[in-house]
Amino acid sequence: MADGKKVTVVGAGNVGSNTARRVAEKNLADEVVMTDIVDGLPQGLALDINQSSPVEGFETRAVGSNDYGATAGSDVVVITAGLPRKPGMSRMDLLDKNSEIVGGVTKEIAKHSPEAILIVVSNPLDEMTFLAAEESGFPRERVMGMAGVLDSSRLRFFIAEKLNVVPSEVQAITLGSHGDQMVALPRHATVQGKPLPELVDEETLEQLFQRTRDGGAEIVKYLQKGSAFYAPSSSAAAMVNSILNDVDDVHPTCAWTTGQYGISDVYLGVPAKLGRGGVTEIVELDLNEAELTQLREAAEAIRSKCEELSARR
Ligand code: LAC
Repeated sequence: MADGKKVTVVGAGNVGSNTARRVAEKNLADEVVMTDIVDGLPQGLALDINQSSPVEGFETRAVGSNDYGATAGSDVVVITAGLPRKPGMSRMDLLDKNSEIVGGVTKEIAKHSPEAILIVVSNPLDEMTFLAAEESGFPRERVMGMAGVLDSSRLRFFIAEKLNVVPSEVQAITLGSHGDQMVALPRHATVQGKPLPELVDEETLEQLFQRTRDGGAEIVKYLQKGSAFYAPSSSAAAMVNSILNDVDDVHPTCAWTTGQYGISDVYLGVPAKLGRGGVTEIVELDLNEAELTQLREAAEAIRSKCEELSARR
């Protein structure tokens, strides 16, 4: 039962439209609104989603609009607006252009849905999440970024493929930034309940982590125009589900830190419980010194980029 729940997805590109589709197919809301600046694009895609509802058997109604009025009163807003990477680009190369886009979008969303919870997907992820928090003025627990669910899912898939098991038998979590400073936690990864480091050698571990760190770029290189969207939209929809249904389960999330792991006042990938209040708790895993150092280095790199962003605003 969706009980009057409303989700908005900003940006009707591949990530946005697939997020809207997954929200609808899982019946997570009564209404899923897609907005985009391109005339007709969100309207056409929403109609297409709606026409699949008798076959798929969902009741969510998709709405497409070029106007933020249609987004009013949303419970959750997923922000996917912005440019994707081209081959050879890093996520950070998108900083200038996407800051303008995400900044503008967030102001409109905050005006029309002052009680919403924001999930940022645009890149560079950690910095865009900070920007959305600043521009919206929302309490920080109501603004978060989607990256860790995606990176962890990629890692779990690569481990499953390597060890020839089904992905659901693999547990793994990544923290830190959505980028080069992703922190992989081999001690917390398990395959059929067994710790991963007992199953593969150091070199294989490092290859799995490196492929995960570069997981987005590998796809950008294949596609040539545009970046990944199936796994990113699955990840965003999983967070929407946890929030709207108040599941309060743990997802690696780009969340505002308030002293956890000795880190404060920066958005960073950490394990977080997600429920109706947004980030309801940041969970502190038992990390060793080396892992803590990596996490703190990722936090400082994000902090310094965010300071650059603030200085320019
Ligand atoms: C990726 C983009 C969504 O990692 O950042 O594919």
